[in-house]
Amino acid sequence: MAALEGTEATYCTSSGMSAISSVLLQLCSSGGHVVASKSLYGGTHALLTHFLPRACNITTSFVDIKDLDMVKNAMVEGKTKVLYVESMSNPTLSVANIPELSRLAHDKGLTLVVDNTFAPMVLSPARLGADVVIHSISKFISGGADIIAGAVCGSAKLINSMMDMHQGALMLLGPTMNPKVAFELSERIPHLSLRMKEHCKRALVFAIRLKKLGMKVVYPGLQDHPDHELLKLMANDDYGYGGVMCLDMGTEERANRLMHQLQNCAQFGFIAVSLGYYETLMSCSGSSTSSELNAEEKALAGISPGLVRMSIGYVGTLEQKWAQLEKVLASLNA
Ligand SMILES: Cc1ncc(COP(=O)(O)O)c(C=O)c1O
Repeated sequence: MAALEGTEATYCTSSGMSAISSVLLQLCSSGGHVVASKSLYGGTHALLTHFLPRACNITTSFVDIKDLDMVKNAMVEGKTKVLYVESMSNPTLSVANIPELSRLAHDKGLTLVVDNTFAPMVLSPARLGADVVIHSISKFISGGADIIAGAVCGSAKLINSMMDMHQGALMLLGPTMNPKVAFELSERIPHLSLRMKEHCKRALVFAIRLKKLGMKVVYPGLQDHPDHELLKLMANDDYGYGGVMCLDMGTEERANRLMHQLQNCAQFGFIAVSLGYYETLMSCSGSSTSSELNAEEKALAGISPGLVRMSIGYVGTLEQKWAQLEKVLASLNA
């Protein structure tokens, strides 16, 4: 994992959430402050909004990370310890400008923490200036939707301090990965790169074709996506633009109808909240993985009620899968 992210050290944890909470607890003492992107996975959003202020007196200001002045102005001298973003946000797929955010964070003595769950291999945040990279291994890195795991990648100094017998969050909160899970994962990481290439290739083909059909597609691989050029600049060669794309169906009812037909009539994929599996997984984010956000927070994060997140799988041929998808879309429009 350290080699994957290009950091000195990695600590594997029992889940993505335990990686995130351990890092935040280590870096922020009571009374500490976090500046975070307003577009984050629902669990992370809830941790920052509800749990950390109540249990640890750690507060967060949520900002639009595209607005660098807003990010800078939210940092409170002596209090803000962490700038927290997702490299590619769940579920809106906006891309963080990691070099710029790193410069802003370092100017103010903050640690830039980047959750790279959506873009392993595609992006290497540490090489772009992030201090700490987090993964939910439960997703693409596992690839099997049968393991819950996470990782913290960072400097040896940070990881060692987190393992300190008296003060370390990794030592004292008990988030360590089960060694049997670690062995299982060591058998999967060698083919992560092949898997990512196929996820990304198919996501791009589907996104282009769906767009041509006049659908509202969100995918940073599309040339008209606002972050396309930024992603191209930051991405590693030959991986593409990520294995997740979103279709905005307008309403939750239409989103559910589409997913129901794709799962139950066309065998295109499964309705499930995970991602990074070899089958295509679909979820209506606003009522599932982002349901922790209230209506106003969802609107701020750009999560519309009909947004269907699709993690594109690679079973069957691409054309077989496209035929299933096209048939369902035609029947919905009929
Ligand atoms: C971007 C992101 N980070 C972290 C997590 C939490 O990971 P885990 O389910 O492994 O705790 C998720 C889960 O969906 C996620 O999407």
